Amino acid sequence: MENNKICELLGIKYPIFQGAMAWISNGELAGAVSKDGGLGIIAGAGMEPNLLRENIKKAKQITDNPIGVNLMLLRPDVAEQVDVCIEEGVKVITTGAGNPGPFVEKLKSAGVKIIPVIPTVKLAERMEKLGVDAVIVEGTESGGHIGSLTTMALLPQIVNAVKIPVIAAGGIASGKQFLAALSMGAEAVQCGTIFLTAKECLIHQNYKNAILKARDRSTVTTGNFTGHPVRVIENKLAKEMLDLERKGASKEEIEELGKGSLKLAAVDGDAENGSIMSGQVAAMVNEERTTKEILEYLMSDLKVEIEVLRKKLKNWNL
Ligand SMILES: Cc1cc2nc3c(=O)[nH]c(=O)nc-3n(C[C@H](O)[C@H](O)[C@H](O)COP(=O)(O)O)c2cc1C
Repeated sequence: MENNKICELLGIKYPIFQGAMAWISNGELAGAVSKDGGLGIIAGAGMEPNLLRENIKKAKQITDNPIGVNLMLLRPDVAEQVDVCIEEGVKVITTGAGNPGPFVEKLKSAGVKIIPVIPTVKLAERMEKLGVDAVIVEGTESGGHIGSLTTMALLPQIVNAVKIPVIAAGGIASGKQFLAALSMGAEAVQCGTIFLTAKECLIHQNYKNAILKARDRSTVTTGNFTGHPVRVIENKLAKEMLDLERKGASKEEIEELGKGSLKLAAVDGDAENGSIMSGQVAAMVNEERTTKEILEYLMSDLKVEIEVLRKKLKNWNL
């Protein structure tokens, strides 16, 4: 999109990122999204450096367009992962769980853009000082590991606090939400949940069905007492975890129950004992579409909603 800072910075057609999803957003999904004009992001969280390289290569076989990788900075082999990204020509790295500071210079001199995912104003300011290229503001509506503030409340605060471009994540799966994010000052959006049912997303059908069936109150957050809250579809595992938390079980006991549970749901299809991470917008995801259809839907629905708003404001003489 012309004159859009994120599209120009990264060389992408639409200001839409497919957010990283551990065990889910692999080379196939990210490659498809990037091919169709968004930014596909491979989740490095569950990948050894070699597996990460394979996935980047897979994405590069699908498209020459820019590909992103998300790195969890607490991984002990993250420095190796950074090298793999540089060697494979990854265009942008989004980061979570830690401080990207030690890698900023190396990545910048290799021409890789750095975009941390952040849940607070203070972190956004700290990241700007480090010299990152943009920040992704992620609200608590999101699927996966979350902060406590909503996109609605947090996004404009961060837009006011920093000068670098801001990407909005959490609770965006339609033109109405896309427009709201833009009106709050975002330059682009990052979506996760809407891509879970993409045809190119190779997770188990049981996981997809849980998203397709979800209603407005289907998600809950577990891990509130361990300090690592996670938004998931409520199922047997989520109920057990919440029960343990209510009973005051230890952090170790709760974390033990959750170990390997995302893979159990995403790969093995155990929709009751696995963790079906999902955002609150799962209720708005009612069909399986190709990544191209999802991106085109988001862009065309955005235009529809802009027109609706224009008419409304004109009617109000505003
Ligand atoms: C199943 C799942 C796994 C996720 N894993 C990661 C991850 O590994 N790293 C990350 O930075 N964000 C992760 N996220 C967050 C997404 O990248 C994205 O920011 C979020 O889903 C956006 O909100 P939405 O779900 O409302 O669209 C995950 C989200 C989901 C739904």
